[in-house]
Amino acid sequence: MNVKRIQLQMHGDVSGMLVALEGNKNVPFDIKRVYYLLKTKPDTHRGLHAHRTLKQLVIAVRGSVKFSLDDGFEQMEVTLDNPAQGLLLDSMIWRKMYDFTEDCVLVVLADQLYDPADYIRDYAEFRRLARDGR
Ligand code: TYD
Repeated sequence: MNVKRIQLQMHGDVSGMLVALEGNKNVPFDIKRVYYLLKTKPDTHRGLHAHRTLKQLVIAVRGSVKFSLDDGFEQMEVTLDNPAQGLLLDSMIWRKMYDFTEDCVLVVLADQLYDPADYIRDYAEFRRLARDGR
């Protein structure tokens, strides 16, 4: 599956910690957009879509969350709970996010501006497109 964990360097000293994100350096694309998910109610799901072309790097900078990922052929579960770890999601990956801790803040870096037309929100359509594409 086109999903990868990326280890980010944690810079630290007695005053605290810092993680830097740079386009085409430790983030493997040009960063066009950054957004974050926060105050997600416990017992809710977010996501439930795939992107036609968008690539993203997702980091739980606080708290934890689980991802259920699907490329139309196989599924995998990933837990994000480390601010020094990014999850790289290629295009055409169906994602469901769940089990958000109350304090969870999920930062998302994307290689394109927001475009509703890039979303596939119907799972059957996603699966058909994913399978036709191979
Ligand atoms: P949505 O993708 O539905 O997120 P979720 O399913 O996790 O709640 O987006 C929620 C709202 O935010 C929707 O009205 C669109 C808007 N939005 C933007 O304006 N820009 C963005 O970059 C994103 C990701 C969402």
